Amino acid sequence: MPALINPSILSADFANLERDLGKISTADYAHVDVMDNHFVPNLTLGLPVFERLAQVSPVPLDAHLMIEDPDRWAPQYAEAGAASVTFHAEAASAPVRLARELRRLGARAGVALRPATPVEPYLDLLSEVDLILVMTVEPGFGGQSFIEGTLPKIRRARQAVSEAGLDVWIQVDGGVSRSTIERAADAGANVFVAGSAVYGADDVPAEIAALRELAGAHVH
Ligand code: DX5
Ligand code: ZN
Repeated sequence: MPALINPSILSADFANLERDLGKISTADYAHVDVMDNHFVPNLTLGLPVFERLAQVSPVPLDAHLMIEDPDRWAPQYAEAGAASVTFHAEAASAPVRLARELRRLGARAGVALRPATPVEPYLDLLSEVDLILVMTVEPGFGGQSFIEGTLPKIRRARQAVSEAGLDVWIQVDGGVSRSTIERAADAGANVFVAGSAVYGADDVPAEIAALRELAGAHVH
């Protein structure tokens, strides 16, 4: 399984999003954090901005919806052209119905878990989703440090996916950098979101390549 690197544009210059998407043209996806100031204590961007990003991005978009009522809003991100749409398990009222709707619209469906949300109650959903996002920081802000205590959950998620014989990706998001990416990959993650590590680098393509190489040696 290849290691996928999805830089988060939360750490890009919001006055120059098109230019900053251009900087990550060697990435696998651009990770777009949608926050509504209710599910998390921060506000970023919504559908009108996302629709334009989908039109100008050189790489497919990976939408991470940190919003309440994703049952109502998430399908519109798939319709806007997101390649992948991830909603939070804690916020969805009908996750199976929502995941099916996202797939029907042609997107990969993802379910995200806050650091303190266990994966076990969601294992029955595995065949309905394409991705599990294990948050490795509390969602809401970039630049926080990686919570090591999430590693066992990544391991349990990977084990459940392997046992079920499914091709479900495991994504990690938060505090991912050269110093943490190998441990996340060892635990079973294969998709890596990095905001400050990528956009804070002097040479963005070199940072993407370095992260991909470090992770690639540990993804199994
Ligand atoms: C946080 C967001 C992340 C954020 C990660 O809630 O979901 O995608 O951009 O930022 P870093 O990589 O700086 O921790
Ligand atoms: Zn995110």
